[in-house]
Amino acid sequence: MGTADDIRKLVENRNKARLGGGEKRIASQHKKGKMTARERIEFLLDDGSFEEFDMFVTHRTKSFGLWDQRILSDAVVTGHGTIDGRLVYVFSQDFTVFGGSLSEVFAQKIIKVMEQAMKMGAPIIGINDSGGARIQEGVRSLAGYGNVFQKNIEASGVVPQISAIFGPCAGGAVYSPALTDFTMMVENTSYMFVTGPKVAKTVTGEDITVEQLGGPDVHATKSGVTHFVLEDEEEGLLLIRKLMSYIPQNNLEEAPLTPTDDPIDRLDDELNSIIPENPQVPYDVKDIIYTIADDGEFLEVHRRYAQNIVVGFAKFNGMSVGIVANQPKYLAGVLDVNASRKAARFIRFCDAFNIPIVTLVDVPGFLPGSQQEYNGIIVHGAKLLYAYGEATVPKITIILRKAYGGAYDVMGSKHLNNDINYAWPSAEIAVMGPKGATEILYAKELREIEDDEERAKFTAEKEEEYKDKFANPYEAARYGYIDDIIEPRNTRFRIIRALQSLETKKVLNPPKKHGNVPL
Ligand code: HXC
Repeated sequence: MGTADDIRKLVENRNKARLGGGEKRIASQHKKGKMTARERIEFLLDDGSFEEFDMFVTHRTKSFGLWDQRILSDAVVTGHGTIDGRLVYVFSQDFTVFGGSLSEVFAQKIIKVMEQAMKMGAPIIGINDSGGARIQEGVRSLAGYGNVFQKNIEASGVVPQISAIFGPCAGGAVYSPALTDFTMMVENTSYMFVTGPKVAKTVTGEDITVEQLGGPDVHATKSGVTHFVLEDEEEGLLLIRKLMSYIPQNNLEEAPLTPTDDPIDRLDDELNSIIPENPQVPYDVKDIIYTIADDGEFLEVHRRYAQNIVVGFAKFNGMSVGIVANQPKYLAGVLDVNASRKAARFIRFCDAFNIPIVTLVDVPGFLPGSQQEYNGIIVHGAKLLYAYGEATVPKITIILRKAYGGAYDVMGSKHLNNDINYAWPSAEIAVMGPKGATEILYAKELREIEDDEERAKFTAEKEEEYKDKFANPYEAARYGYIDDIIEPRNTRFRIIRALQSLETKKVLNPPKKHGNVPL
């Protein structure tokens, strides 16, 4: 056969591979509002940058009549390309081929790009749209999953891993995204569960829909499994590009600098009056974040989960930082099980990938009650404490208002090897609030006062005394637990100066195999 024929055959094969499961199944995919595996990659990556691997791979299964249904590429498209010129590796499951189900060679294709990504120090982006284990392949498919999980674990903390769930993701298949750093889902088309509604009905008698069991809303608000929910796939893929702008290529590099015209010494006068006179009145901590960050931009992570704490990425003079902030607008910014888990995981991501942490504190304490205790607030609070104390990236904390009790220690206090701690003049740093403290310290005296009016007067006096002593930042500053008390309108400038001073920070924790974080 001559060269021209060889080339024609190659082109034919390539075109065949690009059709995946065929026109009909592609049309059905589009009808569901879904892109095909290759369309998603094209949309995600810089124009024309995609280099595909393993287009000619086919499965090796003879039983169930599969030998006659070998489709080029099998059910996953893999390769590399760039996002804003930076190398990334991708795999995109092709639902048009055997419902995107995972075969032995499918797993091998994914593992190949993951290994390559780790060698090159480049992020891995996985797009999931799959009916799970390829039923006809039995244990070989299960082994394939296990091998992918193992690679996810090895890559964890080495290169960033991002998962998009753009279709079904069920059974053990959920554990690959769960092992990655960020997971996103889209409205209407994606769901995740370990066991589906039918099995739930059989085993527990529970009647529940797919949406109620593992739809995006559930995972965004109740389980916290997904970090982001988007309206459609385009929005999801653009979000991945945005997320990439805040994170480095690997654990040995730093996040890219984003040039900005936003002045470093911009004064934000409105911050001087953002804290309400009455300490019981809430405000939105995100207003502060948007005000101080470069160009008013903040990429919030886990926006709808544990809203009493806010986490996400911002830039300061072009430098990427992870922000952790109590949110007085929800549950008064109290720390509970979910908030502790959410913030701890975020801090560990930032620390693994050299992203400084800026903490904004306004916390009345831990949420009291049996629900919290039974759900292990002790362990989950410890997790947050551990994450802060273990992190060796630059750590800057600003106490905006309340920093009470154990929560003062936990929220990036000086005592957890924090680098720079500032307080606004409105800061109140104490074991507890004035009301609770007065009731405990003067319980005997209060009991002895019979007249209600007199008791109220006595209480007010004692609360005022307590406030004078503790409900301000000066006591903590006297001990050096606060490095400086700053004017709120200077906050942006002071954070940038702090970040600049910490650029050369080098701290190593004692050598060990790994710590025993209270999981
Ligand atoms: C082989 C599969 C498949 C699978 C779907 N297909 N899932 N083939 N193995 N797991 C095929 C279908 O036969 C069909 O082929 C095509 O993909 C599209 O599937 P449909 O059912 O027509 O699509 P839809 O109606 O959209 O339903 C999607 C679905 C359903 C909900 C995902 O297909 C489904 O329930 N699949 C089985 C899910 C499952 O139980 N998987 C195992 C989970 S356990 P044709 O030729 O008709 O187009 C698991 C364990 C992992 O994954 C363990 C890891 C440790």
